[in-house]
Amino acid sequence: MTIDELETPAVLVDLDVMERNLARLASYAKKHRLTLRPHTKTHKIPELAKRQIDSGAKGVTVAKPGEARVMAEGGLGDIMIAYPLVTPPKARAAAELARDRAICVSLDSAEALEALSQAAVAAGSRIGVLVEIDVGFHRCGVGSPEQALSLARHAMGLKGLEFRGLMFYPGHLGKPPGEQTAGIADVSRCLAAHYETFQKAQVEIPVMSGGSTATAYRSHEFSGVNEIRPGMYLFNDRNLLSLGVCSPEDCALHVMVSVVSTAVPGRTIVDGGSKTFSSDRSKGEKVTYGLIREDSHTDFIALSEEHGHLDTTHSDRKFQIGERLHILPNHVCVTVNMHDQIYGVRGNTVEKVWQVKARGKVQ
Ligand SMILES: Cc1ncc(COP(=O)(O)O)c(C=O)c1O
Repeated sequence: MTIDELETPAVLVDLDVMERNLARLASYAKKHRLTLRPHTKTHKIPELAKRQIDSGAKGVTVAKPGEARVMAEGGLGDIMIAYPLVTPPKARAAAELARDRAICVSLDSAEALEALSQAAVAAGSRIGVLVEIDVGFHRCGVGSPEQALSLARHAMGLKGLEFRGLMFYPGHLGKPPGEQTAGIADVSRCLAAHYETFQKAQVEIPVMSGGSTATAYRSHEFSGVNEIRPGMYLFNDRNLLSLGVCSPEDCALHVMVSVVSTAVPGRTIVDGGSKTFSSDRSKGEKVTYGLIREDSHTDFIALSEEHGHLDTTHSDRKFQIGERLHILPNHVCVTVNMHDQIYGVRGNTVEKVWQVKARGKVQ
């Protein structure tokens, strides 16, 4: 099948670019002896998770038990649920998967620990636990080494659980790589304080799991980190491009749309709106919803459900009805989540049709 035969809107992944991104990060992780555990929220496709494993990742990361189940059914055997599971049904889902898979869960409360322990005992399984620490993003994570140690000890005293280490997400360092130096030093100091407290208490921290795409190639500078969980590196997106984390040549995924109306002066309408693109707005002065590969002077200014509004007033380009455009989405993970399938393409050929099997698994 060729790309021309696809209906729009359609999400296209340039396989050459994706494979380059995959190999580059895998070789970086190998060089710095960092365990790679990519976050699969970016693609939600077991086959792509397996490719990450084949290229050197030890395991994968998901956010919810529903996503973990899809990955497990797709043959993935080592899964971290990087999200606090605080209700019995979610803890039970993790515990059931842990019967024949290596499952670990990150958490930051005694309540989550106890729910998980009860579920593991009932399921007759064993779940790995990573205590989440807050290194500056202020989303989840305990706020001091003493609290982390106390939760670690709590985990060690509960049946069905095994304390594996600490985890964090440096979301506050989503800035240009050249501006991350001070933040990385702060995080390293914070990690050192944790190592010191745990060492004094003679509690080992086997895994220190961190990492994001924005900081991916500086991961080795976070002293003490031995595992990283970037997700978006596989495809990249417009937000990462704006930060200078990647170049246009590294952007593997675009949404192909068709021009459906040019009737209103200064406007071109395409067949992808808020059901096709995420409503994540671009950061910076001009708020737009994606970058149009065919014309950088046309702005993607608004989303209706099924209409993408392009402002052509600053461009000489005259778009034709039926013309296909390729748009780099602002936030790739949420965009992929909106589609049943995405296409792997090489040149004009559609080589792969992937079902986005873990899409919508919000529980
Ligand atoms: C806990 C956790 N780990 C890893 C990631 C993946 O990082 P990125 O989105 O920067 O690729 C995320 C992303 O939100 C996350 O929340």
